[in-house]
Amino acid sequence: MRRPSTGSGGPLDDDPSDPGKDAGGETAEPPADPTVGPGVGPYEGPWPDDPRLDPELLATGDRRNVLDRYRYWRLDAIVADLDEHRAPLHVAIQNWEHDFNIGSIVRTANAFNVSAVHIVGRRRWNRRGAMVTDRYLHVEHHADVASLVAATTAAGVSLVGVDNLPGAVPLEPVELPRSCCLVFGSEGPGLTEDMVAACERLVAITQHGSTRSLNAGAAAAIAMYHWSRRWGS
Ligand SMILES: C[S@@+](CC[C@H](N)C(=O)[O-])C[C@H]1O[C@@H](n2cnc3c(N)ncnc32)[C@H](O)[C@@H]1O
Repeated sequence: MRRPSTGSGGPLDDDPSDPGKDAGGETAEPPADPTVGPGVGPYEGPWPDDPRLDPELLATGDRRNVLDRYRYWRLDAIVADLDEHRAPLHVAIQNWEHDFNIGSIVRTANAFNVSAVHIVGRRRWNRRGAMVTDRYLHVEHHADVASLVAATTAAGVSLVGVDNLPGAVPLEPVELPRSCCLVFGSEGPGLTEDMVAACERLVAITQHGSTRSLNAGAAAAIAMYHWSRRWGS
């Protein structure tokens, strides 16, 4: 079974001094008090012997933000079950700004059960907004574009840049490849030139108002949904 949240570049930074972690990592966990928060309380009834179930959660309750079918399941059992039906979709994010949108993109990537999330650039990423959903994903770090290209080529997925840059075609009529990696840029700079050069195509979400761009988290959700409308099971 693959372990969650590991990467080709080694484990992601768990430095407690990471401002992203302080802001939204471990502190984004549900309350420790099992009598507080959403979810279910201690298991009632004959004690189940299903090895996927976590004895501690059964005893104290399960307050995690998980589907009802995963109530009381161990984390590794949930990841193993998700691995059985991952989408052939990958997501990559350029991380230059310690951007709070990255956590939001990770959470959406979990909702679409993508095969992997690739963080390109800085190893530390802002976990605010991820709400610990990265634990259920395979998050890989790449120091540079070449490392991302090597990983996605090995996985057999093409890179699709998502940005409103010159040369981008409107996303709406495009049928994205079934196996692909959607690539998003940082707030501010957007996709870098070398990343654009590595992408097989570039798509833009059509806008109708006055703002120059969407925030990256919103753009990623739209693009993943667009892929899912065609290829989601
Ligand atoms: C705030 S944008 C920054 C750069 C943008 N190229 C600009 O001209 O302002 C951050 C990221 O959000 C995504 N994004 C924002 N608006 C988008 C749009 N209309 N179409 C596709 N992607 C968009 C892209 O991935 C982009 O790199």
